[in-house]
Amino acid sequence: AGPMAEQDRWEAEQLGRTRLGVGVASARAEAAAEEAAKYELLFEDQIEFVKEELLAGDGDDDDALSARERERAARLAAIDDERARMQAERKELPIYPWRQEFLDAVAAHQIIIIVAETGAGKTTQLPQYLHEAGYSKLGRIGCTQPRRVAAMSVAARVAHEMGVKLGHEVGYSIRFEDCTSDKTLIKYMTDGMLLREFLSEPDLASYSVMMIDEAHERTLHTDVLFGLVKDIGRFRPDLKLLVSSATLAAEKFSAYFDDAPVFQFPGRRYEVEVFYAKAPEADYVDAAIQSVLRIHTQEPAGDVLVFFTGQEEIEAAEELLKQRTRGLGSRIAELVVAPIYANLPSEMQARIFEPTPPGARKVVLATNIAETSLTIDGIRYVVDPGFAKQNSYNPRTGMESLLVAPISRASANQRAGRAGRTSAGKCYRIYTHWAFMNEMDPDTVPEIQRTNLGNVVLLLKSLGIHDLVNFDFMDPPPAEALLRALEQLYALGALNDRGELTKLGRRMAEFPLDPQLAKALLASEKFGVSEDVATVCAMVSIGSAVFYRPKDKALHADNAHKAFSRGGVGDHVMLLNCYNAWAEAGFSSAWCAESFVQAKSMKRARDIRDQLVGLMERVEVEMASDPNNTDGIKKSVAAGFFYHTARLQRDGSYRTVKAPTTVHIHPSSSLREALPKWVVYHELVLTSKEFMRTVSEIKADWLVELAPHYYSRKDIADDGKKLPKGKGRAADA
Ligand code: CDP
Ligand code: MG
Repeated sequence: AGPMAEQDRWEAEQLGRTRLGVGVASARAEAAAEEAAKYELLFEDQIEFVKEELLAGDGDDDDALSARERERAARLAAIDDERARMQAERKELPIYPWRQEFLDAVAAHQIIIIVAETGAGKTTQLPQYLHEAGYSKLGRIGCTQPRRVAAMSVAARVAHEMGVKLGHEVGYSIRFEDCTSDKTLIKYMTDGMLLREFLSEPDLASYSVMMIDEAHERTLHTDVLFGLVKDIGRFRPDLKLLVSSATLAAEKFSAYFDDAPVFQFPGRRYEVEVFYAKAPEADYVDAAIQSVLRIHTQEPAGDVLVFFTGQEEIEAAEELLKQRTRGLGSRIAELVVAPIYANLPSEMQARIFEPTPPGARKVVLATNIAETSLTIDGIRYVVDPGFAKQNSYNPRTGMESLLVAPISRASANQRAGRAGRTSAGKCYRIYTHWAFMNEMDPDTVPEIQRTNLGNVVLLLKSLGIHDLVNFDFMDPPPAEALLRALEQLYALGALNDRGELTKLGRRMAEFPLDPQLAKALLASEKFGVSEDVATVCAMVSIGSAVFYRPKDKALHADNAHKAFSRGGVGDHVMLLNCYNAWAEAGFSSAWCAESFVQAKSMKRARDIRDQLVGLMERVEVEMASDPNNTDGIKKSVAAGFFYHTARLQRDGSYRTVKAPTTVHIHPSSSLREALPKWVVYHELVLTSKEFMRTVSEIKADWLVELAPHYYSRKDIADDGKKLPKGKGRAADA
């Protein structure tokens, strides 16, 4: 399994802090105490600051004092205004009139299903209503989100609305990043993080309310959470459970949760006119950009939201937009382009929420994160090419890959709905009506039915849930996929032949990593390279590209990068060398710039690495480093990724060893020309072909040595076919 795409840090604090960062000037001591009462605990930090300033400023002359007092008064007034504005804004949300009914329903029932349009206020308001009604006195109010960026951004928003510092009363928790404290009353988290919390707190004892949000997305983790919270609800009658969804298909949720009542907020939605392409478009990025320009030059004011499948596409679209508007100069109104995708640096992410300057038009280029989990005000036009990136898993071959696939009709309608939140809008679909009716599924297939289950099976086993076939899934995964996961965990040594967790399996479950990575990490101990493999795991977990290659300096970049892969060490060791070189340079950003390496990604890798090392110490892995032992490092990787191995073919392509499929070395790999005979790869990506990304050479013998349950001699026997001349360095002779 590829690592869940790891996201860049969203410095949401910037957003949450805008108001609290205001320095407050001097005043009299009693006044400060009064202020303290007025601003309750919310402004604690700031009041302290006022007091200190006051004591320090006692000797000031009168003029200075009065100037400072005026400044202070102005700033406090600004705080008051912002507070009043925020509270007034909260009351404008569609959900507000139903506040009391909602609280009554929560008081009367343990589980309720909530349905309301995106933007109604479910995520930001419901936890606050419960907090205001006193539930946070009984325990934390938790709220899960399928996406990291959403968890961070809503937490920042709610902290801002409540006038508290992010991480204090309101916090978030995502993989490798915990921004909460003992004070935290409202906690937003990814669904995956809540799953991990079950390991340390199986009854969720510290929570009084748990809201499973964006339930309609049906992510793998959300689906597993359904089963777990339903179960603990039975022996924790005091725990309130909310399941909220943006689509009307609530009956299914209700039926699953023992006919829980459905609380449906009437939506406030304006009409959206939908237009289709007359004929299929070959290049939907280009067609989408044409649509944007047409809207910009011909349609009345209003911002535009365009859906793309990922970072590369968004960058290409940005470039196209720039090219096409260049030279038009003042003949067209200003166009503010704001991209949003998970790995975008946080300061840039905040731009999508900035109000559009008068006379200009904002174009948000987004992944399907903007479909339901983020609401951007002011959107009147949606351009929808109809695709999204999806992971797909073939349990028969055990192959998993990320591919661009048509969205469902339900998703298409959600996307269109983004145009009608504040006024009537228009949606331009870059596909035909026929394709909408005939090529799109009515609903998105739940992730649990199309993904590798290794991760959750290991987690459920660690929670003591053994009978997975009879686990209460809303939609059970295919039996074949479950069986595959069990087999894979057995081959990794995490389960024994009775399907019980082994000691190794228990240690693996401690890591917030896919089982293969966890296994690689633990296997490294034997080869005396645990610290090095921790670095490799951190580097492959950041999800975004580490190396970059600006067009005008491609040669320089290539040379810089080559230095890390000298000696044909392969991509895994290349990542290690890169990290070590950065560490030697004192973790400097200047070094990153010189080396054409993303500084943000490196910092993130360092954070992840620190956490992995902490966890390794907890499970008592002996820490040792030997970066020159490249065989040991690659063996560790292969001990986890022996499913991801392939063998060179005559034509320069590769075939996976078991359940043969043709794959290729990704053009970004340092081994793209070396073509070793046997390779291990981190993940497959399907673009024009199935590409292996992050590839290292291995020896065939290792497979039998490292995965004796899975490989036998005959799997690696030479088939006698001649390899093309000069290709295949026949490492395994
Ligand atoms: O969860 P739901 O889609 O029902 O709505 P929400 O996320 O609670 O958002 C309610 C409103 O808060 C949105 O319509 C936005 O106006 C605002 N909001 C914002 O301005 N910035 C955010 N980061 C999140 C929400
Ligand atoms: Mg929401």
